[in-house]
Amino acid sequence: MIPRIYIPGDSGALALGAEKVAKAVRAELAERGIEAKIVRNGSRGAYFLEPMVEVATANGRVAYGPVKASDVKSLFDSGFLTGGHHKRWLGAPDKIPFLAKQTRLTFARCGINDPLSLDAYKSLGGLKGLQNAVAMSPADIVKHVTESGLRGRGGAGFPTGIKWKTVLDTTGDRKYIVCNADEGDSATFADRMIMEGDPFVLIEGMAIAGIATGATKGFVYIRSEYPHAVAVMNKAVEVARKAGVLGVNVLGSPNAFDMEIRVGAGAYVCGEETSLLNSLEGKRGVVRAKPPLPAIQGLFGKPTVINNVISLASVPVIMDKGAAFYKDFGMGRSRGTIPIQIAGNVKHGGLFETAFGLTLGEIVDDIGGGTATGRPVKAVQVGGPLGAYFPRALFDTPFDYEEFAKRDGLIGHAGITVFDDTADMLKQARFAMEFCAIESCGKCTPCRIGSTRGVETIDRLAAGIEPEKNLALVTDLCNTMKFGSLCALGGFTPYPVMSSITHFPEDFKPAPARVAAE
Ligand SMILES: Cc1cc2nc3c(=O)[nH]c(=O)nc-3n(C[C@H](O)[C@H](O)[C@H](O)COP(=O)(O)O)c2cc1C
Ligand code: SF4
Repeated sequence: MIPRIYIPGDSGALALGAEKVAKAVRAELAERGIEAKIVRNGSRGAYFLEPMVEVATANGRVAYGPVKASDVKSLFDSGFLTGGHHKRWLGAPDKIPFLAKQTRLTFARCGINDPLSLDAYKSLGGLKGLQNAVAMSPADIVKHVTESGLRGRGGAGFPTGIKWKTVLDTTGDRKYIVCNADEGDSATFADRMIMEGDPFVLIEGMAIAGIATGATKGFVYIRSEYPHAVAVMNKAVEVARKAGVLGVNVLGSPNAFDMEIRVGAGAYVCGEETSLLNSLEGKRGVVRAKPPLPAIQGLFGKPTVINNVISLASVPVIMDKGAAFYKDFGMGRSRGTIPIQIAGNVKHGGLFETAFGLTLGEIVDDIGGGTATGRPVKAVQVGGPLGAYFPRALFDTPFDYEEFAKRDGLIGHAGITVFDDTADMLKQARFAMEFCAIESCGKCTPCRIGSTRGVETIDRLAAGIEPEKNLALVTDLCNTMKFGSLCALGGFTPYPVMSSITHFPEDFKPAPARVAAE
């Protein structure tokens, strides 16, 4: 059997030099006259070990990482094709602690094989959920998804089954499934990893959603900054069509479902569902007032399911292993698993899928390994640019929608950004307001004007001008934005601002005191 070498083609690994490694491996194989198959897999998500090269040996896979092109010669000299020891040797990939500690349901296959091999997908249990779904009634599929407790992973945490039921119960000559792959939150890359590393799980989830609700057409709206994901998804849709997974008779059943990939033009607000629909329709990405809900009048005025990539990609395992199996993981009303994306100033950055319930401290200190700089952790922003900053004092908060809400925070798309003690929280608060001012769609005044006034007021605070008055003004502005904005961009910007002020008051002291403290 010719040796198989796995070198990730995922854009995260490519950014860390995977292409150079692949080139060096090819050159070394040619020079040594060795015949081997190079498979470009996705990433398993342990980005601190990327590029992570794996070889298939008689005793299973052996991983090496992070591999540099300059390591390749010595890897061959160490006999890495049969798992030989080397300074980059990591052993069996599923025994690497960062990966071994995970509960991978949605990401069970991600990064293991060539993402475009449908055979590889099926060999690891792919399509079983869809096979079960085509044999069920739409109402039963919806019941199953509802009973699993799955909630939207895009940010709002709305129960997926209830959304699907609304679309199923609404009549329409056409219905749509729209997958939100805009993934605009800072520190998030779960959607990208799925699209580049296991695209068929998303296609399978969308086909199940179509059959469950009577929708025959799906769109995946991908941010323009994800060219690799766009390319993989386009190819995967073609493969799925040829294999009869998509088309007029999904898996030979009477159900029709097909889909297309669309690329956004680059606006954070286009991740908001109604703005996304406008963008998909070729209009400016401005938020629509609700009602009507997209489930009743969505894309082109038709009943539409809009779900995040991870929500849809979690459906196949639910339809394969059952609602009770999925629901068994998690805590409270947060059921199943959540792919936590650990980023920022952190030692072990990457994607960690686990049941809900780990504390923030466990995630940051134990899994993330603390800061990359080795300095103390000062703050962790959870849930993207609209998420609150958590101080160490709140590290006992369990990763759960309700527990985070109780502490004026949110889980969002489950991205966390770690900051060490050099972070200036006044600057972070200013950044939140500035981000909102830049990304605001402009439809409502509290967000459009409030965010700009917010930047100006924080600047006055930084300059030590009337500190008490300006601090009161920022608080007042935040309340107006929170309660008066049409969507969560204006409505949630107060979270990072107010959490900075509440938990790190020393950073908002008048300028002379700040300068003296420095
Ligand atoms: C400003 C803003 C940006 C958003 N960006 C995203 C995004 O990038 N991806 C996403 O899935 N949801 C995003 N959302 C949430 C969506 O509006 C919507 O709740 C989600 O797509 C529904 O899917 P889910 O129920 O599967 O989470 C955003 C919301 C707001 C207000
Ligand atoms: S809150 Fe901001 S982004 Fe949302 S609708 Fe209003 S102006 Fe647009």
